[in-house]
Amino acid sequence: MSSINSRNYESTPAQTVAFLGLGVMGGPMAGHLAKAGHTVTVYNRTPAKAEAWVAEFGAPGRHAATPREAAAGADIVFSCVGNDDDLRAVVLGPNGAFAGMKQGSVFVDHTTASADVARELSNAAQSAGFQFIDAPVSGGQAGAQNGALTVMCGGDKVSFDRVKPVMAAFARAVTLLGASGAGQLAKMVNQIAIAGLVQGLSEAIAFGQRAGLDMKMVLEVIGKGAAQSWQMDNRGKTMIEGKFDYGFAVDWMRKDLGLVLDEAKRNGARLPVTALVDQFYADVQQAGGKRWDTSSLITRLK
Ligand SMILES: NC(=O)c1ccc[n+]([C@@H]2O[C@H](COP(=O)([O-])OP(=O)(O)OC[C@H]3O[C@@H](n4cnc5c(N)ncnc54)[C@H](OP(=O)(O)O)[C@@H]3O)[C@@H](O)[C@H]2O)c1
Repeated sequence: MSSINSRNYESTPAQTVAFLGLGVMGGPMAGHLAKAGHTVTVYNRTPAKAEAWVAEFGAPGRHAATPREAAAGADIVFSCVGNDDDLRAVVLGPNGAFAGMKQGSVFVDHTTASADVARELSNAAQSAGFQFIDAPVSGGQAGAQNGALTVMCGGDKVSFDRVKPVMAAFARAVTLLGASGAGQLAKMVNQIAIAGLVQGLSEAIAFGQRAGLDMKMVLEVIGKGAAQSWQMDNRGKTMIEGKFDYGFAVDWMRKDLGLVLDEAKRNGARLPVTALVDQFYADVQQAGGKRWDTSSLITRLK
């Protein structure tokens, strides 16, 4: 499930860490931490995934029955779950990770969640004597498997400097962008930039197909010019072929755009294209594409 491509890890002192949430992203990220020499205790709500992870990466490491047990004694606790409520579920309450965190430790959250929940949990962590860094990622499943994610962080600089070399096990760029919540806000900027672009790319490909062009050849040519993008390079071919059964799920994108549109209501930003594309993704969900890659936006135009 978590198969990763090992890479050269920078040598950093081994740390005792925990990882909560071994999904598409979390499984390989935790795998890189183990391969880099850290002692990793994992927790996953569905225990079978944790067992499979330990079988693949677990020396020295183990899986714990609750987030609290996983966090006990750890210098750094990482999480990568679904949304705000899922994050609260693994962090708060008597079996939540916060109940097990030791003084002076750091909690690093890689979930794409709201800036509000980041600030709320950062305040709770500080009152309890440890720190919280919001650290959503970009780079997708392939980035997690290759240990090449981009990590956007918000929080306290001293704690960030402590955890940055450890995150380097699964990332090629780890940057502190401001106070608590700034990582989540930067991820929203990322998703706004992607939403309009994928719709533009969809319209371009659908237009070219109707015009009878060989679109693979066209993308090869225009991909060397000003229209080039990550989406064109990594999704153009499969959009032409109509293959969407992989990648970053439409359900997750709608969750992210919901966070974006909520934040825009507060800060007054105008996002007409993003709001429209969010509704286009609702069409894709209704057509059965909840787990399709976000490039499936083109299916509305066929
Ligand atoms: N996939 C991507 O390409 C990508 C890229 C960038 C960012 N992200 C973000 O990264 C996060 C994780 O994405 P993913 O693709 O790894 O998702 P995923 O494969 O669905 O994994 C979600 C993980 O969270 C756990 N979880 C969910 N709700 C929970 C709850 N209430 N209590 C305890 N555990 C819970 C799941 O446990 P179970 O195994 O028990 O279900 C699973 O381990 C999301 O916020 C997503 O938006 C994803």
